[in-house]
Amino acid sequence: MLERIKNSARYIARYLDKEEYATGIILGSGLGELGASIDIRHTIPYAAIPHFPVSTVQGHKGNLLIGTFGGKNVIAMQGRFHYYEGYPMQEVTFPVRVLHEVGVKHLFVSNAAGGVNTSFLAGDLMVITDHINLFPEHPLRGKNLDRLGPRFPGMTEAYSPRLIRLAENCARKLDIELRHGVYAGLQGPSFETPAEYRWLRTIGCDAVGMSTVPEVIVARHMGMECFGMSVITNSTATSEAMKTDHTEVQEVGNSAQPRMTALFKSIIEHL
Ligand code: HPA
Repeated sequence: MLERIKNSARYIARYLDKEEYATGIILGSGLGELGASIDIRHTIPYAAIPHFPVSTVQGHKGNLLIGTFGGKNVIAMQGRFHYYEGYPMQEVTFPVRVLHEVGVKHLFVSNAAGGVNTSFLAGDLMVITDHINLFPEHPLRGKNLDRLGPRFPGMTEAYSPRLIRLAENCARKLDIELRHGVYAGLQGPSFETPAEYRWLRTIGCDAVGMSTVPEVIVARHMGMECFGMSVITNSTATSEAMKTDHTEVQEVGNSAQPRMTALFKSIIEHL
C-alpha cells in the first residue's frame, strides 16, 4: 500500500512544480462545477494516475484538477470513489492517502445528501459538524500503517472546529444561509426507506449520504484538518418528498453549486 501511495504521489508531484499544495478539495455528486472556478494549471484524468481507481457513476467526472482557488494552490478531485461502486474501502480512500502524501493538510469535502432533519429544504447548505459511520466496512480495518497514523485514531474533532467557525464568518459576509448537522454515511446505492429516514432522525442524524465518512476517517488518521459540506438535495420530511431519484439529486445540486463555490473560495482565501 505504501509503495502504491508513493507511486501515485510521485506521478502527481510532477505537475506541482515543487510548489506547496496544502489544500485539497473533494467535489461530490453533481458538485463538480466548483472546478470551473479554479484557475487550472493541469487536469489529470484519474485513469492516467498509477493505481487510481476509475469512477463509474453518471454525473461524476474523474479528474484531478491542479491550480489556484481563493488565492491558494489547490488540488481538487472532480469525482470520487464510492463504496457502492464495488471498491473496497481502502480503494475508496486511496486518493486521500495520495493527497496527504503530496502535501495536502486541509481537506475540503462536499457531498449531495438527503435532509433527515425535517426543517431542512432541498438546496440548503449544511456544514457537517460530526458524522455517524454506518458503512459495513471500515477503511482502517487491517494492519495499521504506523507511518501514516495511529492504530486507534480519535474522532472527537473529525470536522475542524476552527474551519467551522471560519465557514460561519465567511457565510455571514457573503449572506449565505448555513445549516449545521450530523451526516450519516450509508453504503447505498438504494435511497432509504421511510422507516430508515425515521431511524436516522432518531439516532441523531440531520443528513444522509453515501460518501465522505470513509474519506474523513482516513484524513483524520493522518492528521489532516477536515471541513465537510452537504448540499441537501432532497427533503425527507413528507412521504411525497421522499420519492427521490438521482436526476433530482443532480438538479438541486446544480442550483446550490454557486453558493458552495463562493463559500469554499472565501474559506480557502482566509485559511
Ligand atoms: N439518501 C442517501 N444519499 C443521498 C440522498 C438520500 O436521500 N440524497 C442524496 N444522496
